[in-house]
Amino acid sequence: MATAVLGMQWGDEGKGKVTHLLAKDATMVVRFNGGPNAGHTVIDRGVRFGTHLVPAGVFYPDVLSVLASGVVIDLSVLRQEVEEISRHLGWRPRLLISEAAHLILPYHRLLEDLEGMAGTFGTTRRGIAPVYRDRAAKVGIRSGDLLSPPRLRRRLDERMDLLKRLAPRSPEIDALSGGGLAEELLRSAEPFLNSIGDAAGAIGEALARDEAVLFEGAQGALLDLDFGTYPFVTSSSTTFAGLANGIGVPLLRVDCRIGVIKAYTTRVGEGAFPTELVDEVGETLRREGAEFGTTTGRPRRCGWLDLVALRHAAAFDAPTGLAVTKLDVLSGSEEIKLCRAYRLGGRETTRFPLAAEDLAECQPVYEMVPGWREDLSGMREYDELPKEARSYLARIAEGVGAPIAYVSLGPSAEETIATGFDSE
Ligand code: GDP
Ligand code: IMO
Ligand code: MG
Repeated sequence: MATAVLGMQWGDEGKGKVTHLLAKDATMVVRFNGGPNAGHTVIDRGVRFGTHLVPAGVFYPDVLSVLASGVVIDLSVLRQEVEEISRHLGWRPRLLISEAAHLILPYHRLLEDLEGMAGTFGTTRRGIAPVYRDRAAKVGIRSGDLLSPPRLRRRLDERMDLLKRLAPRSPEIDALSGGGLAEELLRSAEPFLNSIGDAAGAIGEALARDEAVLFEGAQGALLDLDFGTYPFVTSSSTTFAGLANGIGVPLLRVDCRIGVIKAYTTRVGEGAFPTELVDEVGETLRREGAEFGTTTGRPRRCGWLDLVALRHAAAFDAPTGLAVTKLDVLSGSEEIKLCRAYRLGGRETTRFPLAAEDLAECQPVYEMVPGWREDLSGMREYDELPKEARSYLARIAEGVGAPIAYVSLGPSAEETIATGFDSE
């Protein structure tokens, strides 16, 4: 049976933990979008990892870890990550890298900086927008090009010529075009050359054999290039609606679609955030939830849960079950607020506006739910949870329109309650 794990907010919902938890029964775990802008925290046998490119299922010997065509790869990040994980495991993970996956090159990071994208959008400075732009403009370098050094050199020469024509007096670009780029790339690709191949074919075959295939989304629905809070989004498709394209396989059946939701909301980078708390309550959430970026270390903006935004996400993710994470962080709040509608232009609406300018005008309309004092971290049964926590979860399920499949009460896999409601 195939399962997809998808972030339903602005990323950092806890996808890494949920994927790691579900991957123990999988034969294949597939990343299908984004690149090293992602940071997925996994605690494997007591050791904490922030995975950026390799799927969070990489820690199990029976799992084939796949980087599908929708992923953008920085070979130096991949190399460092695989070395670190291999040292921890004592064996080298099995990897399959799609030949159609695009490579992030030094000029992508340079262009992101020259264009000031980190300032305008709060991007992660990993070269994400420039590499996806090159893909769409048909001037990208793909991992399959590494298998043919002459083709790689020719394509790189063409790309560098174009860059030099566009920026004739840039010393940074001149420094990059010294000619060593192809050789440097081939050197960092060396450990992965045998892993590059037909990922779409392998995924299609595993699905046809009805193997336990797990798809791990990066980012979240509200950061989706088309249906998120454009232009304050990432540059890939982050939702279930985008998954088929990110792997190159028509998805006839993924019976289990787990929408991961943090029990409150966080966002890193720029862009409107209607339920943001810029007061002490937000500060408490950041402190109690240790809300600092896994990739960049930036403090995350914090706020209440937003059902309007979650229903928007659900339209693209079609979750069959929800994993609600970090419920433990809310313990001790007197009262919890849930945004059920927005006020925009003097009227109440439950529609999530696509235009960033409209979203910035939206005022949250809250309903209050009572909080609880108990420490939830040791609880392992749904019925053990305080009744206030259970009614909060029930309200989320009703508001989003999907049952609660998992409740996460701490960063480790054991700190999870599975309710059994997860598939169609
Ligand atoms: P991802 O990008 O969606 O994988 O999420 P991140 O790893 O970037 O951020 C989630 C953070 O919350 C990480 O530090 C996790 O270790 C932590 N975490 C995940 N689930 C829980 C939970 O249920 N409770 C607490 N307290 N922390 C959690
Ligand atoms: P995971 O997979 C949270 C945000 C950046 C920025 C915007 C665009 O860990 O949930 P980009 O570098 O992608 O061009 O930046 O998207 N962003 C994330 N925020 N979690 C992520 O990944 C993110 N990946 C990108 O902060 O606002
Ligand atoms: Mg993250």
